Amino acid sequence: MAKEESGKASWDALRDEQERLADVAIVELFNDDNERARDFSLEAAGLYLDYSKNHISRLALQQLLALAQHCELPAKIEGLLQGERINRTEDRAVLHTALRDRSGRQVITDGEDACALATRERDRMLAFVDDVHRGRRVGATGKPLTTVVNIGIGGSDLGPVMVVEALRPYWIDGRRSFFVSNVDGQHLADALEQLDGETTLFIVASKTFTTQETMTNAHSALDWFLANGGTHEGVQNHFVALSTNAAAVQAFGIAPESTFGFWDWVGGRYSLWSSIGLSIALQVGAANFLALLDGAFAMDEHFREAQLAQNMPVLLALVGVWNRNLEDIAVHAILPYDQHLHRLPAYLQQADMESNGKSVCLSGQWSSLHTGPVIFGEAGTNGQHAFYQLLHQGTDVVSCDFIGAVNSQSELGDHHAKLLANLLAQPRALMCGKSLEVVKEELATEGVDPAVIDALAPHKVFDGNRPSNTILMERLTPETLGALIALYEHKIFVQGVIWGVNSFDQWGVELGKQLASEILPRLTSSKGSDYPALDPSTEQLLDWINRRR
Ligand code: F6P
Repeated sequence: MAKEESGKASWDALRDEQERLADVAIVELFNDDNERARDFSLEAAGLYLDYSKNHISRLALQQLLALAQHCELPAKIEGLLQGERINRTEDRAVLHTALRDRSGRQVITDGEDACALATRERDRMLAFVDDVHRGRRVGATGKPLTTVVNIGIGGSDLGPVMVVEALRPYWIDGRRSFFVSNVDGQHLADALEQLDGETTLFIVASKTFTTQETMTNAHSALDWFLANGGTHEGVQNHFVALSTNAAAVQAFGIAPESTFGFWDWVGGRYSLWSSIGLSIALQVGAANFLALLDGAFAMDEHFREAQLAQNMPVLLALVGVWNRNLEDIAVHAILPYDQHLHRLPAYLQQADMESNGKSVCLSGQWSSLHTGPVIFGEAGTNGQHAFYQLLHQGTDVVSCDFIGAVNSQSELGDHHAKLLANLLAQPRALMCGKSLEVVKEELATEGVDPAVIDALAPHKVFDGNRPSNTILMERLTPETLGALIALYEHKIFVQGVIWGVNSFDQWGVELGKQLASEILPRLTSSKGSDYPALDPSTEQLLDWINRRR
């Protein structure tokens, strides 16, 4: 069968199976199959994934695995890990996995070993961390640099801040970190208010070193430093840069010795493992940073070696494809039952939506399939008291990932048992629901008046049959966190392969940037009429703003 035909046949078979399942509830799939819970779950790299509470059959899973083979997934995984230039629209390899490969393996790209390059730069960075921690690298007035301000946005912010928050119990005593990303001056101002310039290290984190938000914040931080007792010579003590653009860093005034580089084969949203992780290493120490890398590497090795049918990122991805393309679910919730993972949803929003929020395939053709879903989320149990109403009874079905640790990082009375009870109850409630009959019985047992029962009962019905995954770990540690992040990175990659999109470019962020630069002079210059007219709505908004500025 020709390739295109077999692809169509794979999707046709999946659609047939979805139709067959349309009237079969998830709970019925369990009733008909005693081994479902066991077989639709697996362990890897310290994580346990249960995907049995999805509206998916064994046959559908086999068909999805056949689709993955049809899309040449094993070869694509190999291509990713071997440094093929799979980011074709930017002509780059995609080698974040090389950043955490400390096994001695070589991965050659552009004639150089990416693992060796990564090791060299990481050693430099961790030596710097050690110098700061041991007081060998101090502020201009000789005081220890105890406070870090990471200035970056997107991948140069979300990964580091998410990890630093997640690893709170590993923080080194007496150290503080601030993360400033928004071009809204209030973000930087709020941080500056709390700083002592003599003990602060500013990290300017930007792959390109041209990003408007980061450069604006970096210049303002520099101005603040100079206006608050800092000197031009002292800048070298208080500013470091993380970037691939050495020339722009030097033009800003940061010396090469204070610059930690990386390479174009590290995508911004995949960069926390590189020098971009400096703020992490400063806050939790070099050993914990390396443990984070090792945890991710353990997941990389599993991804590389496991058969597709026993491969955690592959299965998570394929279940996601089923939910997105066959069940037509457009929204996916990330629900960590762990307060320290409260920034994980925001992190995965960028990782997933910037990677797979695409309409054009690698072939240049418009995609005939829906691609990445909307990702949102919140830490449990807070989300339960906010948007779970819609998850349980809304007209749209939202697929969910429930994530939690068996043991808390901070055991306190029975808090953790209560947290875990909620973590287990929610996916069960979403799947099982509650029928009208049961609702009526319950109300009758409570002695509610029959007329009230009839009026109230429909509002208390849960139709159930709403899909979710549960991801557990024994404890949230640098290793399990690394594995969890790598799990999602690889899931996103696999879905990109199935959808045929380039998960590693982000052209969709460009137009807004371009238009903002066209609009900026209309807000900062008085000669508004010299500029070409914009659309009537934007003109009117500008006028409203300018009359008040
Ligand atoms: O939002 C677009 C983007 O390019 C992201 O991909 C990236 O993480 C972010 O901007 C920041 O880019 P840089 O690290 O170059 O400042």
